[in-house]
Amino acid sequence: MAAGWKTIAGAAFLASTLVGVTACSDDSDTGTPANTPETITVYNAQHESLTQEWVDEFTAESGIQVNLRNGGDTELGNQIVAEGGASPADVFLTENSPAMTLVENAGLFTDVDPDTLAQVPPQYRPSTGKWTGIAARSTVFVYNKDKLPQDQLPKSLLDLQDPSWKGRWAASPSGADFQAIVSALLELKGEDVTRAWLAGMKENAVPYKGNSAVMKAVNAGEVPGGVIYHYYWFGDQAKTGENSANTALHYFKNEDPGAFVSVSGGGVLESSNKAVAAQQFLRFLTGKSGQEILQTGDSFEYAVGSGVPSNPALVPLADLQAPTVDPSKLNSQKVAQLMTEAGLL
Ligand SMILES: [Fe+2]
Repeated sequence: MAAGWKTIAGAAFLASTLVGVTACSDDSDTGTPANTPETITVYNAQHESLTQEWVDEFTAESGIQVNLRNGGDTELGNQIVAEGGASPADVFLTENSPAMTLVENAGLFTDVDPDTLAQVPPQYRPSTGKWTGIAARSTVFVYNKDKLPQDQLPKSLLDLQDPSWKGRWAASPSGADFQAIVSALLELKGEDVTRAWLAGMKENAVPYKGNSAVMKAVNAGEVPGGVIYHYYWFGDQAKTGENSANTALHYFKNEDPGAFVSVSGGGVLESSNKAVAAQQFLRFLTGKSGQEILQTGDSFEYAVGSGVPSNPALVPLADLQAPTVDPSKLNSQKVAQLMTEAGLL
């Protein structure tokens, strides 16, 4: 018994000493001692589960630790802008690109390493090179197969403003995912068309909080269809299918605004004093290992880098006939203003 207590006391002493060492080296501005793992801070607005998969693999490969601060696209983008050069963030990851543009326009990103940019085709990153796409997601129309025959499906996202769609489609207007779709509509069709569409949406759409809630409502037959991103449906199908069994996905294609493919972004903050490790993380995300996590993991988001194919369950990106949109042109502030004016926010 006595020996057991001694061991516990010894272990407790050792643990407190280690904590002390870590705390000291974290406070140091002069670089990290060779025997202490380096830690970068990532402001993460991507789905936590996906980023955690990335982080686990990155830390295993590099030894670099990642401290995650999770939040939404707009919330964390605004936070970085407010913090400015004093932000503790080394890296910013988003679900959608408008929040990346917000931070880019505030002049807070440094250039992404050319090696990293070379891993990502130009259509999945802004021409400025201030951040890069790390994954992609497609807009889809999820519909209840019993409530909506295929010949009544909308041909275009724009059709949903028609009075014939009153009370017959759902969306999550407060979410960054849906607002990115509106930002694409704004970029592709201009302010007048977007304003009219949002007015029609206010009349017609049933609002829910979150894409999962939209899909559940469509599955339950509360509303015949809804505008969401594709991976919510594939994720549910891969599990029990309980929230999507009665539904199918309709892809608008034809370069319609409803065929918009949204890019998830990653960038390194100019204010980071761990730029080498931060750039290494971005190179990992867009490299083979990071992209293979999209191919084989549970996220069902599209791979965009290093020639890695997407999850074979998905409709290939090349078949989506997505409209061409420069991700750095998407304007989240204007979208928030127009949606507020329409009474949707
Ligand atoms: Fe999402």
